[in-house]
Amino acid sequence: MSYTIAIAGKGGTGKTTIASLLVRLIKEKKLGSVLAVDADPNSNLAEALGVKSIRTIGDILDEVSANPEQVPGGMSKDRFIEYEVQKAVQEEDGFDVVSMGKPEGPGCYCYVNNILRSVMSKLADDYDYVIIDNEAGLEHLSRRTTRSADTLLAVSDASAVGLKSAGRIAGIVDELKIKVKNRLLLVNRFNRSLGKDKINGIDLEYIGNIPLDKSISRISLQGESIWKLKNNALSLAALAKLGDKIWRQR
Ligand SMILES: Nc1ncnc2c1ncn2[C@@H]1O[C@H](COP(=O)(O)OP(=O)(O)OP(=O)(O)O)[C@@H](O)[C@H]1O
Ligand SMILES: [Mg+2]
Repeated sequence: MSYTIAIAGKGGTGKTTIASLLVRLIKEKKLGSVLAVDADPNSNLAEALGVKSIRTIGDILDEVSANPEQVPGGMSKDRFIEYEVQKAVQEEDGFDVVSMGKPEGPGCYCYVNNILRSVMSKLADDYDYVIIDNEAGLEHLSRRTTRSADTLLAVSDASAVGLKSAGRIAGIVDELKIKVKNRLLLVNRFNRSLGKDKINGIDLEYIGNIPLDKSISRISLQGESIWKLKNNALSLAALAKLGDKIWRQR
């Protein structure tokens, strides 16, 4: 059985960074096999993980719509796309990655979601951990890329507005009846512990903070991957400490 961690939060809060650091920790701690899912159409999780080029689900849809004759006779188009998506899961050193992307051509963006979802449910069982980096905002939840997760990890800054928005994620999860066992709140780029008053009324379990880490800013400026971070990098060390709360709550 795989253990799914879905990462959500407002734009720019650090979802992709945290997702990639989680992949690194799961690999380095030898916790099991891990699939990184880039569910943001403006994908950059693969890049953050140092994956130079990846065939996305959007690319596959474009290829199939440009050359429909490549679908073998007797096979439905959907089945063919599913098969191609399975092939597009890229094997890297110690983790696999699949990326949603978005089709350039005409066609429904929700179609990519539907495919991702149906392939995901088949793929997921092959891994011990599935880490999903969602796009900003709550739209992805309403389009239901994520139907269930063991852990929902909401990433927020420490501002009142940011925390309120993280709190709304919990509400949406309820409204959409998305099955989530653990709903956690992680505050990024913050060095102190949040006061209780700040998280009052937020239906998420506050697990701690990831400090502002200059080495993250550096690799991000230089276009490097998170594998360049030293083991004692502030962000990585902080996340490692919170790890048990994130990946072991079965
Ligand atoms: N703890 C941190 N310390 C320093 N820089 C950070 C930290 N976390 C994230 N960043 C930087 O902040 C920027 C935004 O982070 P990231 O891309 O992970 O956010 P995101 O929530 O995935 O954004 P989007 O909503 O656009 O997908 C990046 O440049 C990243 O390198
Ligand atoms: Mg992102």
